[in-house]
Amino acid sequence: MAYSMIVTEERGQVGLIRINRPKALNALNHDVMTEICQALEEFDERQEIGSIVLTGDERAFAAGADIKEMVESNPVEMLERETIELWDRVAVIKKPIIAAVSGWCLGGGNELAMTCDMIVASENAKFGQPEINLGVIPGAGGTQRLTRAVGKAVAMEMVLNNRHLTASEALGLGLINRVVPTERCLEEALELGAEIAARAPLALRIGKQMVNQAFETSLKEGIADERRSFYLLFSSEDQKEGMRAFSEKREPDWKGR
Ligand code: CAA
Repeated sequence: MAYSMIVTEERGQVGLIRINRPKALNALNHDVMTEICQALEEFDERQEIGSIVLTGDERAFAAGADIKEMVESNPVEMLERETIELWDRVAVIKKPIIAAVSGWCLGGGNELAMTCDMIVASENAKFGQPEINLGVIPGAGGTQRLTRAVGKAVAMEMVLNNRHLTASEALGLGLINRVVPTERCLEEALELGAEIAARAPLALRIGKQMVNQAFETSLKEGIADERRSFYLLFSSEDQKEGMRAFSEKREPDWKGR
């Protein structure tokens, strides 16, 4: 597919999506988000792709939803445009998504990074939910995902008082996975993506689903679902291959079946 707001590439088994709207600090307007979703869905369907890296540029992962696109909107227009709903399309991608974050990661940009499965951040990354400055609140999951990630105390400060987190603060609070030198950020994310992409595809898919389910269900229901999923994987060739390879002291050859 031809894109104008993003650039896509394949790096081995890793699908790479770069948000390419540098003049607006990668602000996420309807077209940018639509293209991100289309590219994610395209990579998700492709058997040769095992994981996806989503990134911006050195100045910004994304400085939020596009304020200029929303400024004069009424609620019905917001509802009909369905821009904010596009974040939900990211949440249902089956393959692991790693956000490689440098610079500003604000508002809808932070919500997009949090909708991914892991975040690799540059030393210069800054995370925030500045919607309070615009007279609104986060609208694409910020109050919910952020609170689950960093806890109530810090989420309150971020949502109510525009507190920004540095990359090392975000790491300490469990919002992100690792902090790396800015010039290494994308490469580190791609290396992590390649390691993950080489793993058993069905177990990856179900593992991602189950970790996300931990935020949706009671512990008892979650554990019951986990057990059913664990047993289900015993119907796969990859379970036999993985366990036999361990016994035979060799590397497994995953088939994704
Ligand atoms: N929407 C639209 N345009 C944006 C934007 C946004 N979220 N963020 C930056 N831009 C544009 C600026 O308007 C500017 O464009 P012009 O050159 O045409 O004026 C360009 O990007 C560069 O930005 P600045 O000149 O402001 O750069 P700076 O280095 O001085 O400041 C910044 C950087 C602190 C990130 C500042 O741009 C800023 O505060 N941006 C807005 C951040 C924000 O409020 N995000 C939340 C958006 S609402 C949201 O996301 C709701 C939701 O939950 C989905």
